Amino acid sequence: MRFTESPVINLQVLDKPLSFQQDNNSLHVGTSVWPCSLVLVKFLERWSSQNPQNPNPYSHLLSFSGKRAVDLGAGCGVAGIGLSVLGLHHTLLTDIAAVMPALKRNLKRNKPHLPKPLKTAQLYWNNKAQIEDVVRKNGGFFDFVVAADVVYIEDSVRSLVEAMAMLVGDDGVVLLGYQLRCPSADRLFWEVCEGVFSVEKVPKGDLHPDYAFEEADVFVMRKKVMRGGSTSSGDETDSPLLK
Ligand SMILES: C[S@@+](CC[C@H](N)C(=O)[O-])C[C@H]1O[C@@H](n2cnc3c(N)ncnc32)[C@H](O)[C@@H]1O
Repeated sequence: MRFTESPVINLQVLDKPLSFQQDNNSLHVGTSVWPCSLVLVKFLERWSSQNPQNPNPYSHLLSFSGKRAVDLGAGCGVAGIGLSVLGLHHTLLTDIAAVMPALKRNLKRNKPHLPKPLKTAQLYWNNKAQIEDVVRKNGGFFDFVVAADVVYIEDSVRSLVEAMAMLVGDDGVVLLGYQLRCPSADRLFWEVCEGVFSVEKVPKGDLHPDYAFEEADVFVMRKKVMRGGSTSSGDETDSPLLK
């Protein structure tokens, strides 16, 4: 599975035939659908509680009922819309102003398949006031921060990690669809994350077999330090994925 020039990307999630209109000729990368977002959603679908299977090592991690998520750099909205179909109670899709028309167009397109209308907001990762506002207006820190293919500009890496940390609750999880785009941004991203998050890579074999390719990964990240100042022990189990 690779990036495609097709104007419409189809993605079946559970029984919902989602589709996303993309514009690859635009100046803004967010008007295209990036493959990591498909890899991330299909991984989540594979192990979602709405797709029962036994045994499911991710059942606790991916219990979405009553939970809230924010999608950072949502682009055409694949990750956020996909998560909503998988049962999240509330999903907020965010991006820069220039990408909002493409995001809203795709929300409208998929509205018949959504359990309830989704909200959008402009959110620039380096705008702390905007981030605080999003937290305040959406019921507090989020259970999930979702982001796909957002690490490609070295200059924005620090603010991206800071935004993730400001948005996710102490018990929350960052779900990251990842592909190496820019080696210097990649290096800095993992270096900054090291101080903030414990990071676990989903084994390739756990990705959806039809939506996996060598360069794409899914990471699960949890805050190392609680807001109250104590350090998350992380040692109740060998694998934070399974907590
Ligand atoms: C490569 S696209 C990925 C889009 C979408 N997540 C996907 O996987 O299809 C990166 C996204 O991050 C957004 N982005 C980049 N820098 C940003 C910033 N500083 N603040 C907010 N969004 C940003 C872009 O507008 C774009 O939508």
